[in-house]
Amino acid sequence: MLGKIGMDLFLLTLPIQLDIDDNLNWSFSFLSVLLQYRVTWKRGVTMTNKPIESKVISDQLRTQALDWALYEQAKNYALDYMKTVLDRPVYPTDAAIKNLAVFREKLPDQPADPYRVLEKLHQFGSPATVAQTGGRYFGFVNGGILPTALAAKWVVDVWDQNAALYVISPIVSVLEEVCEGWLVDLLGLPPNTAAGFVSGTSTASLCGLVAGRDHLLRRKGWDVSSRGLFGAPEIRVVLGSGAHSTVYKALSILGLGKDRLISVPTDEQGRMRADLLPELDNNTLLILQAGNVNSGAFDPFVEICTKARAADAWVHIDGAFGLWAAASPKLKHLTQGIELADSWSVDAHKTLNAPYDSGLILCRHRESLTQALHMTGSYIIYSENRDGMLYSAEMSRRARAVELWATLMALGRSGVAELIEDLQNKAAYFADCLRNEGFAILNEVCFNQVLVASDDSQQTKEMLKLIQSSGECWCGGASWQGKDVIRISVCSYRTTRQDIEQSAWAFVAAREKVRVG
Ligand SMILES: Cc1ncc(COP(=O)(O)O)c(C=O)c1O
Repeated sequence: MLGKIGMDLFLLTLPIQLDIDDNLNWSFSFLSVLLQYRVTWKRGVTMTNKPIESKVISDQLRTQALDWALYEQAKNYALDYMKTVLDRPVYPTDAAIKNLAVFREKLPDQPADPYRVLEKLHQFGSPATVAQTGGRYFGFVNGGILPTALAAKWVVDVWDQNAALYVISPIVSVLEEVCEGWLVDLLGLPPNTAAGFVSGTSTASLCGLVAGRDHLLRRKGWDVSSRGLFGAPEIRVVLGSGAHSTVYKALSILGLGKDRLISVPTDEQGRMRADLLPELDNNTLLILQAGNVNSGAFDPFVEICTKARAADAWVHIDGAFGLWAAASPKLKHLTQGIELADSWSVDAHKTLNAPYDSGLILCRHRESLTQALHMTGSYIIYSENRDGMLYSAEMSRRARAVELWATLMALGRSGVAELIEDLQNKAAYFADCLRNEGFAILNEVCFNQVLVASDDSQQTKEMLKLIQSSGECWCGGASWQGKDVIRISVCSYRTTRQDIEQSAWAFVAAREKVRVG
C-alpha cells in the first residue's frame, strides 16, 4: 500500500524534480508524455491518464443516448407514417422523388443535430417510400409487416444483438432454436431438419446449394473446403427452365457455372415437366421450385422427388414465398412431396408478413449444412447450445429470429394457415374482378400470383405505366410465355376486398386511357 502511494507520489512530482535538475535537460513534451502515462493503482487495476476518446463526440453521444425525447420523436414520426400510409399514393409522387436531392450532399464535417437527422428523414424520406405496408402494393413478391412483429422489431432494435454465437446473445440463440422446431413442424419437414436465419432466399439458396454441392462431392471422396473445385469430380446440376434468377446467381457464385446446367422444360404454368426429367444419379444437384415468381405454380414434387430419392440425388427446393402453402390444410396439396427433398429456402418477409429482412435455409442434413458453413478462429467461442453462425454464410447477423418468433406467436398455427389462405382467396378475387371487366388472366391462380395481359403487348406496357403512376396501386411487369404481362402479387394481410376493387378499377381506367390514346 505504502509502496503504491510512494510510487504515485514519485511520478506525480517527477516533472518538478526534473525541472529543478537543469543538467538533465529533458524536454517538456517528454514530461507531458510521462504525465499522461502516470501510473496509478485503483482496485488492483493498473490505469493510465492517456486520453482514450475524443471528449467532445463521446460526451455528446452519451448525452444523446439518454435523451428520451429523441426516441419519442422517432416514435411520433413512425406513428405518423403508419397513420397516413393507407391514404397516400402507393408509389411516391414525382415531387417526393425530386426532393430526394436534399440527401445528395457532402458528408458533413461536423456531427449533425440528432433531431435534424430524424426530421430530414421524416420530411423527405417518408414521402419517397413505397407504401408497401398498405393494402394496394402488389409489386414483386413483397410482404406486409404484422403488427406484433413490427413492435417486436422495435424492441429488438433497442437490444441490438449480434446473432453469431450463443455466448454473444443467449436469447437469440434460444429463439432461433425454438423457431427451428416450430418451422419444421409447421411445414411438415423431416425431424432434425436444421434452420439457418439469413437475409433472404438468395442467401438461403446459396447456403442450401453449397451444402448439397459439398455433400455430393464428399461422397466421392472430395473435400471442397480443403481442395476447392480445382480438379474435383464433376457434378450435374438439373433445374427447371423457370428457376428464379437468384438460383442462377447462387450456382455461379458456387463455381457451378450457368452454361453447363441441365435445364428441364416447364409446362404452360411454369411447372417442371416431370416426363422430361433427365436420368438422375447420386452425382446430381436437382433444384425445384415451390411458387414460380410469375405464375405462383408449384413443381410436381411427389413424382420428381421420389425419383430423386431413389437415385440418391440432392434436391433443393426454392420455396421463397410458396413453401408456406405447406402450413395450410387447404393449400397443402400444392407442396405435397416437399418433405422428400434435402434442403429448402423460404422467406419469412414475403407471404408470412414478417419484417424485412428474413430468409431461412432449412436442411435435412444438419451436418452437411454446418460443415459447409463452418469456420474457426482462436477467439470464437462455440458452445453446447445453438451457435447461429454455423447455419448461415455470415458471422455477425441481426437478430431476425426474434421477429420471426413474434410473427409465429402472433399468428399461431391456425393464423399462419388463414393468412396464407386469405392471400390465395384475395388473388382469386382480384382475378375474378379483372376477368369480369374483360381482362385476360394468363395463369391458374393456384396461390397468390395473378398474370394479366391485354391483347397486344404495347397496350399492356402502356397500361402498366399508367397503373404504376396512378398512385392507386402498384404492380410490376414481366415477360410470360413470350408475352408482356402485368404481375399482381397479393402478399399482404392488409389488402381488403375494397383495396382489390379499387385496384381493379385502376386497371379499367388505365385501359380506357390507352384505348382513347
Ligand atoms: C421464387 C423466388 N426465389 C427467390 C427469390 C429471391 O428472394 P429474396 O429477394 O428474398 O432473396 C424470389 C423473390 O421474389 C422468388 O420469388
